[in-house]
Amino acid sequence: MRSLLSIRTRGVRRAGAALVLGALLLAPATPAAVAAPAAAPLPADRHQPEGDPDVLRDAAPRGLFVGTAVDMAALANDPVYRERVGAEFSSVTAENVMKWETLQPERGRYDFAAADELVEFARANGQRVRGHTLVWHNQNPAWLAEGDFSRQELRAILREHIHTVVGRYRGQIWQWDVANEIFDDEGNLRQNIWLETIGPDYIADAFRWAHQADPRAQLFLNDYNIEGVNAKSDAYYELARQLRREGVPVHGVGVQGHLGVQYGFAPDTTANLQRFAALGLRTAVTEADVRIPMPADTVELQAQAQGYSSLLTACLRTPRCDSFTVWGFTDRYSWVPDWFEGEGAANLLDEDYNPKPAYREVLETLALASGRGRD
Ligand code: G3I
Repeated sequence: MRSLLSIRTRGVRRAGAALVLGALLLAPATPAAVAAPAAAPLPADRHQPEGDPDVLRDAAPRGLFVGTAVDMAALANDPVYRERVGAEFSSVTAENVMKWETLQPERGRYDFAAADELVEFARANGQRVRGHTLVWHNQNPAWLAEGDFSRQELRAILREHIHTVVGRYRGQIWQWDVANEIFDDEGNLRQNIWLETIGPDYIADAFRWAHQADPRAQLFLNDYNIEGVNAKSDAYYELARQLRREGVPVHGVGVQGHLGVQYGFAPDTTANLQRFAALGLRTAVTEADVRIPMPADTVELQAQAQGYSSLLTACLRTPRCDSFTVWGFTDRYSWVPDWFEGEGAANLLDEDYNPKPAYREVLETLALASGRGRD
């Protein structure tokens, strides 16, 4: 079994001593306290046996939180969107507004306005919040992405960001995607500013600092193309095992679940999630959507339903898979068409908020899992 020390960092190899040094560096200085909204207790599982079984959050079995990524512009400007986010989901994830480019657009200047809005919306709707994301190669502001920092400087910048952000929402954010998309599809650590300047111990550092800032938050690794057993999910399995052996507070692994009907669906998602569970980890489906080459026909819409079902069923069959989150729920607001030319229709509802076969499949599966088979 490869250890973290031996995990290949293509083009960048750090002596074991650097890893040990990273682990032993002094506890971070806590930055100036940032006024944090009063931390309310996390919403209990609002699952209402007598609730409306025709909405996802109430159809779900107790302990499974059904979530969506939230587009804050749509939440502010589209009343139907806002109503559906509150009614259908028991968990929300910031699609973009908890990323570095929004939270710290200039060095040392934080902008929490949009993130605060989401946390307040969640509180008002009895929803949990998944924080997304503390360390990533994408959506970093120019001052960070193009900065020329020493190892010590960049570690201090990362430490301060994590302590400031996670500390602000202490007790209000259920789970954090701490490290996002840190491996490539071959199972090598992805080249990013963190690896190139700090070295691989940035990963353990990020988890330790997040845990210091909010000991109750559950801290996740998160990535795409790790739904099934493959070189990439193997790398996460090994990393998680090694970090936990070193006492690093890694609590879970999120499989994003960005699928496409044209590629088929991994047959071993359940086995994959269950092997992480066997390590003592929580798991989650964090960003499910199933894109379709347009125009979508009825067969592809049915295949899409099966794609969502493959992810949800794997989660339902895995102990401590606590949440199933879709990456947007209506085709009216989806990242897919902007990123995959000629593809779209990836969500549970169409552009007019009408349920698609995928929505019905997810609702049915949740209801069956609740033992409330539907008449
Ligand atoms: O905020 C600017 C706006 O000011 C500008 O006018 C507009 C037009 O250029 O761009 C806006 O920024 C966009 C941002 O979303 C906010 O809407 C970026 O261009 C756009 O690239 C960015 O896309 C996001 C993408 O991550 C970036 O990688 C998607 O909305 C978001 O859904 C997607 O989410 C990621 C997860 O965080 C990680 N997993 C994969 C997933 C899909 O890529």
